[in-house]
Amino acid sequence: METIKNTKIKRSFIRIVILVLLVFSTSVFGQNMTVIPIHTKGTSLVYSVDKTNRLVFQYYGSRIEDIKPFYNQQSYRKLDTNRDLSYEAYPAFGLGNINEPAFAAIQSDGSLNTELEYIEHHTDTSVAGISHSIIKLRDKVYALEIELNTKAYYSEDVITQWVKIINHQSEAIMLKRFYSSFLKVNSGSYYLTHFYGPWAGEMQKVEEKIENGIKIIESKKGVRTTQGENPSFILSLDHPALENEGICYGGALAWSGNYRLSFQIDEWKNLNVLSGINPFLAEWNLKPGETFITPEMIYTFSNKGQGKVSRNFHRWGRKYGMTGGYEPHDIVLNSWEGAYFSFDEKTLNGMMDDAAKIGIEMFVLDDGWFGNKYPRNNDNAGLGDWQTNTKKLPHGLDYLIDHANSNGLKFGIWIEPEMVNPASELAERHPEWIVQSPGREKITWRHQLLLDLSNPQVQDFIYTIVDSLLTTHPKIEYIKWDANRHVEQVGSTYLPDSKQTHFWVAYTKGLYSVYDRIRKKYPDFVIQDCASGGGRLDYGALKFHNEFWTSDNTDPLSRIFIQYGTNLIYPPVATAAHVSTSPNHQTGRVTPLKFRFDVAMTGRLGMELQPKDIKGDDRVFAIEAINNYKKYIRPLVTAGDLYRLLSPYDEGGWASLLYVDPNKKTAALFAFSIEPHSRGLYPTVKLNGLDPVKDYTIKEINENGKSRFWGNGKTFNGEYLMNVGIELQISDQFDSAVFLLNED
Ligand code: GLA
Repeated sequence: METIKNTKIKRSFIRIVILVLLVFSTSVFGQNMTVIPIHTKGTSLVYSVDKTNRLVFQYYGSRIEDIKPFYNQQSYRKLDTNRDLSYEAYPAFGLGNINEPAFAAIQSDGSLNTELEYIEHHTDTSVAGISHSIIKLRDKVYALEIELNTKAYYSEDVITQWVKIINHQSEAIMLKRFYSSFLKVNSGSYYLTHFYGPWAGEMQKVEEKIENGIKIIESKKGVRTTQGENPSFILSLDHPALENEGICYGGALAWSGNYRLSFQIDEWKNLNVLSGINPFLAEWNLKPGETFITPEMIYTFSNKGQGKVSRNFHRWGRKYGMTGGYEPHDIVLNSWEGAYFSFDEKTLNGMMDDAAKIGIEMFVLDDGWFGNKYPRNNDNAGLGDWQTNTKKLPHGLDYLIDHANSNGLKFGIWIEPEMVNPASELAERHPEWIVQSPGREKITWRHQLLLDLSNPQVQDFIYTIVDSLLTTHPKIEYIKWDANRHVEQVGSTYLPDSKQTHFWVAYTKGLYSVYDRIRKKYPDFVIQDCASGGGRLDYGALKFHNEFWTSDNTDPLSRIFIQYGTNLIYPPVATAAHVSTSPNHQTGRVTPLKFRFDVAMTGRLGMELQPKDIKGDDRVFAIEAINNYKKYIRPLVTAGDLYRLLSPYDEGGWASLLYVDPNKKTAALFAFSIEPHSRGLYPTVKLNGLDPVKDYTIKEINENGKSRFWGNGKTFNGEYLMNVGIELQISDQFDSAVFLLNED
């Protein structure tokens, strides 16, 4: 008893001392009245409230335990009236924000200024592992409130941020820009990795030094918003990003519409990062009492290079950023490259029979199964008419589904519900549902037009398409949701003239409300996110999906680069990677089946070909590889940590990566020779992420008649594997190797 009492007294005393110290530091140094630290396991984000009541951005980086010095933080840069010219946490245009502002609005009386002051903050910790801080700000003159929301995901070292804008006035205000988040970083130099690429060449990594001025990454495409540039980045300080060393920030915006990421080095050499909805032609008229909520910006921080940035994103993504992130997926045969539009029941049944025999677990019927008055025999017609084509499939979908099921296969189907061909019954019935600019010719793209998802009737229509497909055919277990054009000639017959600029945001919010309704009714159902390949790859859409179609380019060499870029930010478990035929249909390149399998097995393995064309030794190999994937690789791609060992972007012509299970008991090593090499030149691969004191036995799989490591079957400790590494006998272009590591 006595000891407990003593401990309690001691604790109270310590608390009083801390309080006195805080009060002392506040009143004596008097710079900041309040300091708001937001911590994860290894990082801290710190804001403070200065003496003029502004919320100031102080810091985001490695975890700071002792926040007292922030009370005394001072700025050398002053405005008149002794105000600090400091960096606001959410910089609004109006006073003291001479860099790009995160927020700007026109008040009802025409005033262009906003001056936000801190009102209060609180933190909600009711959800385990997440602390949600809400900081209320208000304009000094107008009844405009902005809530700065930050969620800190403790174990994943991820923070997300967004704002809620509330108009408490009796007049409307015009929001001119409303970014989600602002970040300030200070260093000698800044290197930005970002991702670009057109159809069939998505997520190519490019890294550049940011120079003075403003670097912008954005989309104005509205729908296939990441075809071009992806809304994500890695920022490395002082030198180009390294895999395992150095300070790196990762950022990804959860938004599938027009976005802008802006990187401005200001006159004091600080880097200002703004992320959010693209303000381009997107003014938002906020009526009295209305609220506007921006998308979430997701950040992570690493002081151990970009490898940790990716692993943080992957861990967060699997748990919070996608559907079914820890569910082992089924191995799919998709009909597209094997049959395109030319199939009948016999073709499809044959594909299913052959697929089942090699170990495939699900058959997905791609484009071409619908439309009667305007049959979908090519991409000219039928989009919008979601009834089974009775000529091609006279016995209906259930007949095919039953055939799949009787072979032990699940069944999935392709839809593209946001679109319409002019040659369709839907376009005849509802021309007003089409995105259009009155008086102008409607220009098609892949012979199709876009439905206006800002219109609630269109939202209901799309929801009903999906819902009735799934209720009429309850044995459908997967949907591939495609979107094959972007916005041109923007215009909505639903939105009033004064709100045409709302279209971009209203479209994306309309899409999310449809996704949300579908997910509420079908929470565990598998949905693939596809937009001409990886055209809608972002954490806004991914949240509602189990996987994304990474690219229409299935060439394994192209895929090594595409998947490398993709997995810098997005989880491998969601990265659909299909083995297709050779020569490849997109590039014409000829590659061995083993190389195609080994590359696809680093992601969410599937196939995209006519399975009857795999014959002889290839067939034997395919069966073995699929079996290996199920037994050994799938659990590691699903829940393991990715360590990149050799980058295809580096000189040398190799690529290598490793998946390690979280307990460090098993791992899978992949290595690829992507260029021809001169005689005797082999890569030495230094492993990573293993336990240095554990012993691992190495076993090659997918060998295909040739062993590629002298130590195959032998045991090595983690320390040796990570420091000395292993030399692999792969040298010819398109040779590859896969090894399993098991703790002894
Ligand atoms: C898009 C998709 C492909 C395929 C076709 C069908 O291009 O990315 O995978 O589904 O549409 O038309």
